[in-house]
Amino acid sequence: MWCRGSSEELAREFGVDRMVERAGGYFGKEPDITRAEHADLNRHFALLCGQNAMATQPGLPHSDVMESSLGWVKPYYTTAGDYWGPTGVDQVHRDRLAILSRLGGPSPLHVLELGAGTGEAAAVMVDAGHSVVAVEFSPTRAPNISALAKESRSGVLVGVEADFYTVSLPGKFDVVCYWDGFGVGSDADQRRLLRRISGEWLKPGGCALIDVFSPYRWTLEVGKEWILERNHPSHRFRQRRRFDFDPVSGCFLDQWCPIDDETGLCDESQAITQKIRCYNPADLELLLEGTGLRLERAEVGGVRLDLGEGHRSDEALWKAWSYLVKLVKW
Ligand SMILES: C[S@@+](CC[C@H](N)C(=O)[O-])C[C@H]1O[C@@H](n2cnc3c(N)ncnc32)[C@H](O)[C@@H]1O
Repeated sequence: MWCRGSSEELAREFGVDRMVERAGGYFGKEPDITRAEHADLNRHFALLCGQNAMATQPGLPHSDVMESSLGWVKPYYTTAGDYWGPTGVDQVHRDRLAILSRLGGPSPLHVLELGAGTGEAAAVMVDAGHSVVAVEFSPTRAPNISALAKESRSGVLVGVEADFYTVSLPGKFDVVCYWDGFGVGSDADQRRLLRRISGEWLKPGGCALIDVFSPYRWTLEVGKEWILERNHPSHRFRQRRRFDFDPVSGCFLDQWCPIDDETGLCDESQAITQKIRCYNPADLELLLEGTGLRLERAEVGGVRLDLGEGHRSDEALWKAWSYLVKLVKW
């Protein structure tokens, strides 16, 4: 879920120099990849396959998980973590620290980060003196958080490889954040998570900072297709990315399909798709009912959204992939 803007922004996000729109799709610049880098990628692949084989995760029995609304989530992010490894710290991680500093309250903060990915945002927050517990269940992503936690930092970083629906965490937090991941599963699943945030994890006076996917931009992008070049050592494949939107469930569908180097064709058997529920602010307020949380603030690109009456089609929310919300306890 790394889509946040125009084709230029997308190019930055995907690490290509530019995106060129052609025949209804965007195509990245040709890759600059050497034979040695290719060999490195293959070694990286072999290493990750070994990690996958060794990884075990307690939780629901496999069949129950696969049949539930959340069954696709761990396999998707585990494969995604295998297709793209850690990026290292970049501007998006520094932007998250800026959000925390602006909206989170007086420093230093005790922060719980949910779905922390490979942990770069957590590391940046810890470098600024905060203490962060970073929960991530993908076995291809969580080990990088542990590696970052071993480096010397101003604050304390604790990586927890666990499912945030079932993990027990000691203590309470000033801020719970969930960057770029909210919306997997059913509305009941989101409510279950929101209730954990308000009832178990937040201190009185604390807040949750969450990116929420907005439906409008995703529906405008239905049918878009990109070819993403393999231009970072952590990329295993070139990828074709496709967008769709399920108008009944209000979810965007984001498919990634690896491209075979020899044939130049997509290997559909290795395609993975994430399905994420989008909420406009009014729907989010309905979702929050009974969770113990209320919407205090919503913003796009740091600009506060007016949540009152009377809005028009030229507003920021039409163009944004997601918006940030600050939720507080009632
Ligand atoms: C779209 S990624 C975002 C990662 C990171 N926050 C970022 O912005 O780069 C969502 C992350 O949430 C993790 N995740 C989803 N459901 C989870 C769960 N129930 N428990 C722990 N992690 C979960 C996924 O494995 C994935 O790494």
